[in-house]
Amino acid sequence: MGMPLPIDSISVDPEPRLITGIVEFDRALGGGIVPGSLILLGGDPGIGKSTLILQAAGRLSGKGFKSLYLSGEESPQQIKLRAERLSIHSGNLFILSGACIEDLFDKMKELKPDILIVDSIQTTYASSLPSAPGSVGQLREVSSKLLRWAKETNVPTFLIGHVTKDGAIAGPKVLEHLVDTVLYFEGDNNHQYRIIRAVKNRFGASNEIGVFEMKEAGLIEVGNPSRIFLEERPERIAGSVVIPCLEGTRPILVEIQALVTPSPLGTPRRTAIGVDHNRVSLLTAVLAKRMGIGLGDQDIFVNVAGGLKVDEPAADLGIVSAMISSHLDKPVASDIVIFGEIGLAGEIRGVSQPELRINEAKKLGFKRCLLSKSNMDICRAISNIELVGLDSVRDLMQVIF
Ligand code: TYD
Ligand code: MG
Repeated sequence: MGMPLPIDSISVDPEPRLITGIVEFDRALGGGIVPGSLILLGGDPGIGKSTLILQAAGRLSGKGFKSLYLSGEESPQQIKLRAERLSIHSGNLFILSGACIEDLFDKMKELKPDILIVDSIQTTYASSLPSAPGSVGQLREVSSKLLRWAKETNVPTFLIGHVTKDGAIAGPKVLEHLVDTVLYFEGDNNHQYRIIRAVKNRFGASNEIGVFEMKEAGLIEVGNPSRIFLEERPERIAGSVVIPCLEGTRPILVEIQALVTPSPLGTPRRTAIGVDHNRVSLLTAVLAKRMGIGLGDQDIFVNVAGGLKVDEPAADLGIVSAMISSHLDKPVASDIVIFGEIGLAGEIRGVSQPELRINEAKKLGFKRCLLSKSNMDICRAISNIELVGLDSVRDLMQVIF
């Protein structure tokens, strides 16, 4: 421990971040890879973690950075085949098949890589511990050894981790505390879209996302996600509503779909995909109590098109509009976007960053936006889109059709 220093006397000489050039990946990282940082990339098996990290390593090695990819899951031949599919050719990208972390450190003394990738953290082990790879003790030991190494050498290190069904990175949450940055790779296997999300970032804003599409030749960046998520939107169909949601600092338009039909069952079904089903129940109760629209005998299905997950209350007003539209079998006007939080009294509350949301809608050609009155006050300067401010869900019926 040195002497305490007056803060003004401390000089910082920030090293430039490593930019992979995969814009959506760099964005999720808060602008690139910070030297010496330990980054956890988690996600369900098969979602595309190895593909993404190999593509990133390919780009960096193409720029002259020596990359070392340790795989405890695949042989060098398998990785080579994948690299060929991804058109990665580089003399700077080194593949090491193995799982023992002490071996890795030995090899690194010679190779001196500029970037290290460990795929996966669950398959690697420290021989100093008797427990099996993937055990809590091993995860902790391997990660803290790599952390120390990354800080000493200033080499950025990626840990790939499989996520368990309940959403936590397998084993302990302790991994998340240990590392500088936690990225989750999300999506479902029925859709080609993948989202990389920074859930923690010591060196940038968290919740930043990057959007990709999984294609034959690997992950392709999606520069304009709103357009993609609205691509297959049906025309003039009841129950479909477009909402501008916010992912990190990024506005994205998504389509909410609702289907409300008389239920043949004693206990009607409530199914929510991509939105919180408790939220849907709450909104159903608000509809009944504040608008007199009782759906107690109806099955209700709510879905976010494209496999996206929306967990902001800002989606409330759009969800309710979609439910009303389906229930009455009347399509919502196709040039409207809708956002706002709904309170239990049926009041419509303001949400964060309304300007960003409205501008995104404008960019995609929408002509009208329904929002809370309180949000409207700070958005009056926005032109070329009609803003309709609402106080309560009771006002909704006059404006959505
Ligand atoms: P992978 O990166 O191995 O997933 P993870 O490391 O997260 O387990 O990706 C697995 C899936 O991606 C696999 O089902 C095949 C598919 N894929 C493509 O569609 N295109 C490609 O170019 C590659 C390499 C994989
Ligand atoms: Mg993998």
